[in-house]
Amino acid sequence: MVLAKCTLCLALVVVVLVGVAAPVVFSVTDGEHSPSTKRQLRARAGQVPAEPNWEISGFVEYIGSGHKEQDMILAVPEGAYAVRLGNDATIRQRISVTRHMYYSVTFSAARTCAQAEKLNVSVTLEFGVLPIQTVYTSTGWDSYSWAFKAEHSAVWLSIHNPGVEEDPACGPLIDLVAIKTLPPPHHTRGGTMLRNGDFEEGPYIFADTPWGVLVPPMDEDVHSPLPGWMVMSTTKVVKYVDSARHAVPSGAHAVEMVAGRECALVQEVATVPGRRYTLSFSVGDAGNGCIGSLAVDAYAARATLKVSYESRGTGGHERAELVFAAVANRTRVVFHSSNHHMKSDGTLCGPVVDDVSLVSVDKHTVRRLLM
Ligand SMILES: *[C@@H]1O[C@H](CO)[C@@H](O)[C@H](O)[C@H]1NC(C)=O
Ligand SMILES: *[C@@H]1O[C@H](CO)[C@@H](O)[C@H](O)[C@H]1NC(C)=O
Repeated sequence: MVLAKCTLCLALVVVVLVGVAAPVVFSVTDGEHSPSTKRQLRARAGQVPAEPNWEISGFVEYIGSGHKEQDMILAVPEGAYAVRLGNDATIRQRISVTRHMYYSVTFSAARTCAQAEKLNVSVTLEFGVLPIQTVYTSTGWDSYSWAFKAEHSAVWLSIHNPGVEEDPACGPLIDLVAIKTLPPPHHTRGGTMLRNGDFEEGPYIFADTPWGVLVPPMDEDVHSPLPGWMVMSTTKVVKYVDSARHAVPSGAHAVEMVAGRECALVQEVATVPGRRYTLSFSVGDAGNGCIGSLAVDAYAARATLKVSYESRGTGGHERAELVFAAVANRTRVVFHSSNHHMKSDGTLCGPVVDDVSLVSVDKHTVRRLLM
């Protein structure tokens, strides 16, 4: 039995080597973005490329859609195949990038039976260990993002399962992988002090996946796939959503706070102690059936504001404003959902935040406010 299983795995490993299509390079321009480069590295059975693109090590299986796993049928979101990373298994691909440019990586993953599953995504010396144990969709598939700065023009992008499970069949599944360029740091648009307050810059969202992209927690000193913003949590995430599949308050993207108080969206800005600032933002729902009394807590310096929003789950938003006096040279603007919420299918959801701006309240306005 064990032998038969292993023979099967070996056969599947060979398929992985020849079954991965060559990277497709394309440029996209839409109404709100400057052209950016996106590349999709797709695993495909039918298309045999001239040369294999993914290298594998360890126990990697090629899984077809409809594969039965402990009475659970796995549907692969895109195409017909995905790979499973067993204990300590890695898939990696050498990719050409532009030195000193910033990139976000998006990939779809499904956890299987292991506890506390994680994936270690790395490019050369940079890595991120992404917690994938919480499932945010009813299909079991979620898309995750991670960002890096290219230190060389050719780098290895690796996805590694650091797991050590007794049952090697318990490794996570990986389907699509794409990379997208991000604008350089300190790039701000409009008259606001915040960077990317409208969330128009962010990780690539696969056109055929309706569930957005999760932005996992990150250390303070690493690159963010959501430029300007840090996601602070131990294991929880925020969800990056687009207007093609969700209701967003403005522009084409927003952030859905899907993890209650366990996860905060944070940006640090330079401020002048004693000066007053106005933080304005939209709170709404993503039109994805997240019904109920949603609320967002916002913090800046010593000021706090709870914005309640009654959601019918069909989209909509309201504006809120928090005026605060800075107490230091740097001020953290923090948002989180006040509560956990669930849709009728049992998946986690929450309020969306969008269109965040921070401006200094000028002296005339202060006088007017005080009178
Ligand atoms: C993640 O992978 C990188 C690159 O292979 C490695 O240097 C790092 O130690 C790994 N981290 C963990 C926590 O497994
Ligand atoms: C702010 O920065 C200035 C100059 O860098 C420094 O002298 C001052 O002590 C700082 N103030 C606070 C409150 O951090």
